[in-house]
Order: sequence, then C-alpha cells, then structure tokens
Amino acid sequence: MATILGGIFTSHVPAIGNAIAKGLQHDPYWEPFFAGYGPVHDWLHVARPDVAVVFYNDHGLNFFLDKMPTFAIGAAAEYRNSDEGWGLPLFKSFEGARALSGHLVEALVADSFDMTVCQEMLVDHALAIPFELCWPGAEKWPVRIVPIAINTVQHPMPSPRRCLDLGRSVGRALASWTGPERIVVLGTGGLSHQLDGARAGFLNPDYDRYCLDHLGDHPDVLAAQSALDIVELAGSQGVELLNWIAARGALGDHVVEITRNYHIPISNTAAATMLLECREGANLKQAA
Ligand code: DHB
Ligand code: FE
Repeated sequence: MATILGGIFTSHVPAIGNAIAKGLQHDPYWEPFFAGYGPVHDWLHVARPDVAVVFYNDHGLNFFLDKMPTFAIGAAAEYRNSDEGWGLPLFKSFEGARALSGHLVEALVADSFDMTVCQEMLVDHALAIPFELCWPGAEKWPVRIVPIAINTVQHPMPSPRRCLDLGRSVGRALASWTGPERIVVLGTGGLSHQLDGARAGFLNPDYDRYCLDHLGDHPDVLAAQSALDIVELAGSQGVELLNWIAARGALGDHVVEITRNYHIPISNTAAATMLLECREGANLKQAA
C-alpha cells in the first residue's frame, strides 16, 4: 500500500525563481523567507518521498481564459516547463507517475469528480518554484509527479468545499493504490495577495493567520466559506488558497504540524510555508 507521508504548503511567487537563480537566499530581503524551508528539507531527508501529488493553479501557460477546466489532472510520462512570461530560467522537466495518475483518474471519475485528463501538459512556476524550494540544487527531481490543476483564475471557481472534497477523494484513491510509493502532497499558491485592479497590493495577515491556524485540524471551517468570500478576504490571487484546501483534504483526518513560516511581503504576496505530517495509517516512524 502506498504511504501518504504528509503535505507541504507553499507560496509560488515567480520572483523566488529569480532569487534562486541569482543566489540571493541570504540577502536580507530573502533570508526570512528561505529560512522557513530548513525544517522542510530536514523532513524530506527523513521522509524520502518518491512521488509528489501537486495541487496548483495554471497561470495561462497550459490553459488560458478560452479553455479553463475547473479540475485537471496530468496523466503524462513527462511534464515540461516553459516560460509563461516572467523571464525565469527554464526548470528541469518532471517525470510523471503515469500508472498512479491512471489510478487517480479512474477513482476520481468513479467518485463523481469529472476531471479533465491531460496526457500532455506544460507546468508553470506554480509547480516548479515549490520544487526548487523543496529540493534546491537537485540534479534530477527526486520524485515523480501527479499534477492536479484547480481553476483559481477565472470566475466561476470551484467552492472551497468542493476542493476539500476533491482532496479527500484523492486521499482515498491514494490509500487504495497497491504500489509501494511514498507520497508527499503539495499545495501551492497564496496566501493573501492581489496583483491587479483597485485593490492591487492588498494583503490580509489576520486572515492568513486564521487560515494557517485552521488548515491542520479544522479544514472544514475554511471550506464553509465561498470562493468569492476568499477573494474578498485574501485578494483575487489569494484565492489560490483553494489549492491548499484541496491538498489538505488528501492528508486524511489526523495531521501534526511540523513547521510553519509566514513572511510579508515577498513580491506582492504574504508568503507562507507549512508542513503537516500524516498520522494515519503507516506514518513516518513505521516507514523510516
Ligand atoms: C506573484 C504571486 C503569484 O502567486 C503569482 O502567481 C505571480 C506573482 C507575486 O506576488 O508577484
Ligand atoms: Fe500564483
């Protein structure tokens, strides 16, 4: 049976990619942000995942406003990165966990999540930046991936409840997978930020802390809001919190917070990092 080890939640601001490319990790502006990943690296070293299921949103690279699936899942052997306009260096390609993708597709559709299934898929900064943060300097990514893209970009977005339920369905499907994979779940984006419009630059630390405080033990509280409530509270891009809520759902009922970091601002974003370890079924201690 596959082991779900835990979940890593992180902002995916493109400027992080430039900071990494220029080696600015210890620059005073960046240090408080990058320091938050030390405990994540320590945990990954012990946890040794070999597959990452990644909940993220595409920013116009693979999907655009003319064709916007609410929920899409990758079923490819490889996922290439391309630059959707930030001027970032190209990220290494990602190997797909294709058989596991197939199992998730079957299970999700049987569970009434009618996914858009992508046998070819480009992945943008929202998937690649978190990988650079989790596995800095890796010659080859140490995990194969199953990407799951949620529309957090264009109205109407899925409700937080639906996203949590999607994550729970993914969690059940992972639990029924008979392969030996050691799985880490990622949720990327957020926390509060708004890049454009009258509220450009909007941040909401009180709401961000509320989300961080409830994600682990009370995710249903976050799911009781509407997506537009989250836009109001966290900004029009802060609604990327939907990716965090879905990723949380995949971890089961019992998690323990290993670390968190919150730092304002990184670019236009209230940047946050959180690591929740699963305490259900085979946990890290048994698996190590
Ligand atoms: C920024 C944040 C994002 O989530 C994103 O996708 C692009 C830019 C920013 O703060 O600059
Ligand atoms: Fe984003």
